[in-house]
Amino acid sequence: MGIKGLVESGYLNSIPPEFVFPSNLNDLEVEEVPTVDFSQLTAGTPDERSKAIQVIGKACREWGFFMVINHSMPRRLMDEMLNVGERFFDLTEEEKQDHAGKELFDPIRCGTGFNNGLGNVFLWRDYLKVHVHPRFHAPHKPADFRETSEEYCKKARDVAEELLKGISKSLGQEENYIHNKMDIESGSQLLVMNLYPPCPRPELVMGMPPHSDHGILTLLMQNDVCGLQILHNGKWVPVNPPPYSFLVNTGDHMEILTNGRYESVVHQVVVNSNATRMTIATGHGPPLGAIISPAAELVDSENHPPKYQGMKYRDYIELQQTNQLEGKSCLDRVRI
Ligand code: OGA
Ligand code: NI
Repeated sequence: MGIKGLVESGYLNSIPPEFVFPSNLNDLEVEEVPTVDFSQLTAGTPDERSKAIQVIGKACREWGFFMVINHSMPRRLMDEMLNVGERFFDLTEEEKQDHAGKELFDPIRCGTGFNNGLGNVFLWRDYLKVHVHPRFHAPHKPADFRETSEEYCKKARDVAEELLKGISKSLGQEENYIHNKMDIESGSQLLVMNLYPPCPRPELVMGMPPHSDHGILTLLMQNDVCGLQILHNGKWVPVNPPPYSFLVNTGDHMEILTNGRYESVVHQVVVNSNATRMTIATGHGPPLGAIISPAAELVDSENHPPKYQGMKYRDYIELQQTNQLEGKSCLDRVRI
């Protein structure tokens, strides 16, 4: 029935044992994730642009994450997305059942988080995943889901494209380098909505276990409740993004393409006891059929021989799903 249903049933006096997955709510490092001013990147003076590119490069090398402010996504649309997402999770179980628990590559899939690497532990998270590019899909309820998400996903692609130009430049390449290498034009885009209801014993459960994201770039926004933590220099750093910002991270296929120059960083989600958290992510990647390996331009065969074997994007996603990797990244499976 989903975590939301479980919490709202009112019978939750203790945590069902199948959900127990102790999280670390202590021993956190307080550090600030770098911030990129999108308007300087896209419309600044030449000097501002080159500074913004430097910030991006440094963030990619040292964090694998950065916050993006003053971007081109309208605030109104971010609010509408959160609102329509909330109403999706409010649908009855029967209505959501149309999309429940089908195959990995089904265009629309919803369910409750599940971590099969750790003895089949359930996660404190309900989710909806929708393939929105190259073909756009949308659940038919709520009625306005399609229109709102189509506009949002298109504008998220625009933001991602601009960031990829900055990232390409920061690698010393021309601005369309990654776009062309990864065939972003026909690339895949996945919309993920995550709902983390409050939990009476947050220290006993996990919203999302440690993992890294497949693909090139993930753009994440949230309602006003925090919960994401990034593994940075061996410590978990909680992230508190400013309202209406995007939290952006480079994915496994950016690490593969750049032969490890830009790492895909492990992150996790903890929950809390008083507020529902909702996040909306768009994952941007190459076409599912594309084989991704380290780029010749970024491999220096004498000093930096290729570190990853090439693999079809679709096969990589399958591998990641079948081996929930006990806190590690699926990249370990393709490292040479
Ligand atoms: C993800 C993810 C973080 C969050 O969807 O891969 O890491 O805060 N989400 O929901
Ligand atoms: Ni993630």
